[in-house]
Amino acid sequence: MTVERISVIGAGLMGHGIAQVCAQAGYQVVMRDLSEELVNKGLERIRKFLSDGVHKGKVSQADADSTLGRILATTSLEEAARDTDLIIEAIVEDMEQKKQLFRELDRLCAPHVIFASNTSYLSITEMAAVTGRPDRFIGMHWFNPPQLMRLIEIPRGQDTSEETVATIVELAKRLGKVPAVCSDSPGFIVNRLLQPFYNEAMSLLEEGVASAQDIDTALKAGGGFRMGPLELRDFVGLDTALRGTEVIYNALRHDKFKPRQCLIRLVKAGHYGRKTGRGFYTYGQE
Ligand SMILES: NC(=O)c1ccc[n+]([C@@H]2O[C@H](COP(=O)([O-])OP(=O)(O)OC[C@H]3O[C@@H](n4cnc5c(N)ncnc54)[C@H](O)[C@@H]3O)[C@@H](O)[C@H]2O)c1
Repeated sequence: MTVERISVIGAGLMGHGIAQVCAQAGYQVVMRDLSEELVNKGLERIRKFLSDGVHKGKVSQADADSTLGRILATTSLEEAARDTDLIIEAIVEDMEQKKQLFRELDRLCAPHVIFASNTSYLSITEMAAVTGRPDRFIGMHWFNPPQLMRLIEIPRGQDTSEETVATIVELAKRLGKVPAVCSDSPGFIVNRLLQPFYNEAMSLLEEGVASAQDIDTALKAGGGFRMGPLELRDFVGLDTALRGTEVIYNALRHDKFKPRQCLIRLVKAGHYGRKTGRGFYTYGQE
């Protein structure tokens, strides 16, 4: 099957970036969020990203204009479900809300439409089971920011068909991304591998082996990392980081995934990292 039209549900941090990448690659895109304010905020972020690109000489004004021209922003789920080949869901990381959305979309969309979820940690198989199309249901896990990160993990659910996998792998390549197919397992590839690494950095901190700054500096200067593990957790948000750690730990029950106390304490105190001004580091007013 060939994908020609794409609908992105959710215009937040990930959704607006995904919509932009798809439109920049020439696809007609519908981007849906719950209110005018939220879809406009998503559109505004896309406009800013493109105009920064124009100023830096990375995108031509004509390409920026045609990209924006291919994005229809809406609050109507019916509009997003109409005339589309692929739904990419990027709403909040909550199983019940995602299931509710997919139930409605299953009713509204034509039978050939593929459903893809951008979930980081939730089960693709469980979401697929509430629809009548588990063979046309798949994960499409983009990385933040979608405009810049090359990888898309493609977790396949229990009943995802080979044709659906092939269609989404092909699409990822057309979008200029690098696909990595995996099974529907907690944390997929990247988050599963990184979780013990983040935990060990927190253990070093708890044991007083090194300061947060020295841990991060060591990994950047000696390990080739662009960001150290603790600053990366602050960047993602410690509340989000803890939720992800808990999902993997609860599913796999191995100590290497168990959330560390320093992370739990910071989250309890409301110190979520960059977004609250304090986490493993303290940030000035931004
Ligand atoms: N933030 C990241 O770094 C990251 C990376 C990879 C994957 N993800 C995943 O992507 C998804 C979205 O994350 P985000 O960071 O963009 O969240 P976000 O909170 O920035 O955006 C979510 C958006 O979805 C909207 N929304 C909620 N219910 C909706 C509905 N029924 N229809 C349309 N819009 C709806 C919200 O209003 C909000 O604007 C989550 O599943 C998350 O786990 C996030």
